[in-house]
Amino acid sequence: MNATPHDDTQFPHDALLETASEAARAVGPRLRKAFRSRPEVATKRDFQDPVTEHDKAAEESIRAVIEGRWPGSAVLGEEGGATGSGRLRWYVDPIDGTANFAAGLPFFCVSIAAAVDGELVAGVVYDPVRDDEFTASTAGAWCNGTPIRSAGATGDREAMLLTSYPTPRDMAAEGEDALRRYGRFLTSFSAVRRVGSAALKLAHVAAGWSDAAYGTRANPWDVAAGALLVRQAGGVYLGDPLATSDYLACVGGFDLTSSALSEVAP
Ligand code: IPD
Ligand code: CA
Ligand code: CA
Repeated sequence: MNATPHDDTQFPHDALLETASEAARAVGPRLRKAFRSRPEVATKRDFQDPVTEHDKAAEESIRAVIEGRWPGSAVLGEEGGATGSGRLRWYVDPIDGTANFAAGLPFFCVSIAAAVDGELVAGVVYDPVRDDEFTASTAGAWCNGTPIRSAGATGDREAMLLTSYPTPRDMAAEGEDALRRYGRFLTSFSAVRRVGSAALKLAHVAAGWSDAAYGTRANPWDVAAGALLVRQAGGVYLGDPLATSDYLACVGGFDLTSSALSEVAP
């Protein structure tokens, strides 16, 4: 994916970004109010895949904003699945980092992206606790309206790596190899953190607040907005953000070839 420099008269990118921003901000008050209320948790795929009533309600609100502005457009949401059709498709994760949200750990976000003809053109990652809004379009990348630059460490020894690898599924698929790789990350990087929320990790790499992020089996709703943010801020994003895929992101100028991450680069 490369952001197309030319705009689209049917789907102006700034208008799509405005909708994504409006939809993400619309659920901010609800998520702030529910945060640290210890909401009831149900599970989906397994006991490590939590969901709350707020995930579902937030996605419904987001879908209502999108439907109001762009009626009938296609939406792929984590909770509501695929609806609509056409050239314009939205990717919605109403709460990315639900485990953090449900427990009371302030690292979760709303992630919304828009793609036209399979090309990412607008994205928002909104952190309702800090009230930080990361936005990207084909025109650039910003945090709270100020342009951001994905810049920082040039090599592992100075770098902060954000990753949830290895997950239980990675352990099942790779066994001891997963722990050996994780061990290499721990000894190669200045620091490794398992913060949760793929979308917010990518936004932080885009802003240059962390240097690299790595994840496996990410869904488009997790990473579409974050991938556009990283690329438009001058960082590197490897992986297909519009398919279920592993991803690796790093700040611009980071030496990936001699990094411990080179072994897992998608
Ligand atoms: C999860 C988070 C987590 C990542 C998982 C995602 P959710 O999303 O982004 O950091 O490791 O792969 O599923 O379930 O909190 O929306
Ligand atoms: Ca998610
Ligand atoms: Ca989610």
